[in-house]
Amino acid sequence: MIANTRRRFSRSMRLSLFIAAVIGIATVLFARHQVETERQNDLEDVARRAHALGQQLGAPARRALDQPDAAARELLRPQLEGYRRLLGYAVFRADGRLLAAGKAVAEFAEKLEAPVRAAAAGAKEQILVLRAAGMPVHLLALPLPEAADHPKGVLVVAHDVSYIDERAIGRLVQYGVWIVIVTLLAIMLVAGTTWFSYERPLKRLADWMRRLRVEGAPEAPPGLPSALLHGETDRLAASFRAARSTGRTLSQQVLHSEQVWSSERLRAHAVAALDGGHQLVVASNREPYMHQFRNGRPQAIVPAGGLVTALDPVLQACGGLWVAHGVGDADRETADAAGRLTVPQDDARYTLKRVWLTREEEQGYYYGFSNEGLWPLCHLAHERPVFRAADWEHYQRANRRFADAVLAEIGSGKALVLVQDYHLALLPRLLKEARPDLSVGLFWHIPWPNPDAFRICPWAADVLNGMLGADLIGFHLQQYCNNFLDTVDRTLESRVDWSHFTVDLRGHASSVRPFPISVQPWSERKVPHGDALAGQIADLRTQHKITGQYLAVGVDRLDYTKGLAERFRAIDRFLENNPQQRERFSFVELGAPSRTHLRRYRDYIAEIEALTDEINWKYQTDKWRPIHFLEAHHDAKTVHAFLSMARMCIVSSLHDGMNLVAKEYVAAQTGGDGVLVLSEFAGAARELADALIVNPYDIDRFAEAIRHGVEMNETERRARMARMTRQVDENNVYRWAANFLTELTAAKTRTGETPSTARFEIAQ
Ligand code: F6P
Repeated sequence: MIANTRRRFSRSMRLSLFIAAVIGIATVLFARHQVETERQNDLEDVARRAHALGQQLGAPARRALDQPDAAARELLRPQLEGYRRLLGYAVFRADGRLLAAGKAVAEFAEKLEAPVRAAAAGAKEQILVLRAAGMPVHLLALPLPEAADHPKGVLVVAHDVSYIDERAIGRLVQYGVWIVIVTLLAIMLVAGTTWFSYERPLKRLADWMRRLRVEGAPEAPPGLPSALLHGETDRLAASFRAARSTGRTLSQQVLHSEQVWSSERLRAHAVAALDGGHQLVVASNREPYMHQFRNGRPQAIVPAGGLVTALDPVLQACGGLWVAHGVGDADRETADAAGRLTVPQDDARYTLKRVWLTREEEQGYYYGFSNEGLWPLCHLAHERPVFRAADWEHYQRANRRFADAVLAEIGSGKALVLVQDYHLALLPRLLKEARPDLSVGLFWHIPWPNPDAFRICPWAADVLNGMLGADLIGFHLQQYCNNFLDTVDRTLESRVDWSHFTVDLRGHASSVRPFPISVQPWSERKVPHGDALAGQIADLRTQHKITGQYLAVGVDRLDYTKGLAERFRAIDRFLENNPQQRERFSFVELGAPSRTHLRRYRDYIAEIEALTDEINWKYQTDKWRPIHFLEAHHDAKTVHAFLSMARMCIVSSLHDGMNLVAKEYVAAQTGGDGVLVLSEFAGAARELADALIVNPYDIDRFAEAIRHGVEMNETERRARMARMTRQVDENNVYRWAANFLTELTAAKTRTGETPSTARFEIAQ
């Protein structure tokens, strides 16, 4: 859409420039002609004046020519000097000899020789302009007597005509200014006319059609040339509504006929949940598509992280609006003036609205309060949380910005807002204060610590108060829900109902529930399968010189909670204890640098790089390296290829809300084989009991689990993977979203009643 807008813009610009160029060139030619004509008129004026002066001096000059030279000069002297533009006169004998000249003319007398001879020889007056004494000089050479065939002499009248050129330049400047004004007016007129009569209506029409498709916008946009469209927009909207209604009926059938949750089934479910024209709005710090300049062109990048992995397929299925912080260096160029664009770029499914934050706000809100404060606070990963008053200020301000953006986008419409994660803890309260009628859900993608740990936060009560604006608060695990309720119980004057898992704060009830997040099936994503995948795998092996026959993989944001050092030390111990695996076992780490603006994260990357070098140095041979640390942002195709080819995936988080890499790995094992080594401190361990569960701090047992996995027989591998595959397939991200929507729509009306029975139970 943006590319089209650009194309239309440049087309209209080209048209304006073309018309302006035509007008410009015509005006320039006209101006030139005009200036030249006026110049000639001025010269003719001078010629006329010279003639009159020549006539005046003609009689005395003729008399003087009849005298000998000395007497002639005496006769002429008092009459030869000029005044102002008239430089003066000169009188020549017929043979070209100068008889007498005024002072100014005498200075360039030698230049008069040629015209004088021509006048004498042809007995015909000569008029010319030449440069003499540093100025343009107009000369009239008049034979004397005038009518005679053989004149006795020639009278020259000389004028300084530099003023004519100056006047011409002045006129040219004047014309130039006019040309610029006329050209600019022409550009404005053409561009304005094109914009009002062509581009704006078309843009509105395109925007309306997009909203009709993505959001189901009802009314035709204002300002369309309705006479031209003959009510076609109304008919199109009516057909679309009819098609939607048929789709809804069909969807209902899909909803009740399918076992496994699919995007279709979620769409049908969302249509029902959003009944009555509610808009679905997601608000998160991280945007699902960010644009970065690569070789001078904006390129869409899908950021690493569980939130985007999970929420993008949901919005692709349901449509709606996603409000997020715009951080890409090409984000502004790829959005409209309000920060909006439709995504994915090649197949618009929903609207992304970018919120712009200042550097200071980003520093305080995202890096500071969120990632140096709440992140370590909730992860209990031996990283001391840092809380600064200035960061808290920015955090509050940024949350307010998100609230303003969401409220502006919703307008007076009904909406169901899904707030995501710890960056936006205050947003539910801000939304509800402005619009108590909104349905607001908050999903917390990271763990919730015990009350004693959370008390460290100096603004614990404010954070909880902000969160409790939501009608529904979701965590990955029941344990986090319990911790949360416990924290609220000990921090706020509220009523915690442990039997229904609700909190009543000043008359508003919030339900607190576990929703273990999950992934989208790989078959739905644009990644190679079959032969194309096999080719890609072969290429990647060659490209990265991966020679080990047994490949294990890890995929992580480079974050100190992911336990990379523990993982690498376990691999070191495994190779130490199992020398037969050297040159056979290769480990590839796809590490996406993250939050590198923070020193702790840069130090962590340096630590992992050093550890990789140390272990590789210890074991590597000419043709084999144990660890390939591929430090970069890897796209979905590359991640999928590595997950598919790896016989083992290792997830060793020290503390992790869920960890979707574990589920992505299971989902990628279409061959039904493969071993998952999974930290007991990742939420995913509660659902994937068939993984080899490890304590990443226990390096010996961790190494032993790797050995167990490498040597596990095929029957056991397949049996374990089959159970995990069923678990991930049945509890995919569509089911997660459906459950959340169901609970959210029920939560608003439930206050104090028994929980909704419409929940789609997690398959065991
Ligand atoms: O899972 C927690 C989380 O903060 C998510 O919100 C996000 O997807 C991921 O980590 C990545 O973090 P960031 O958005 O800071 O890159």
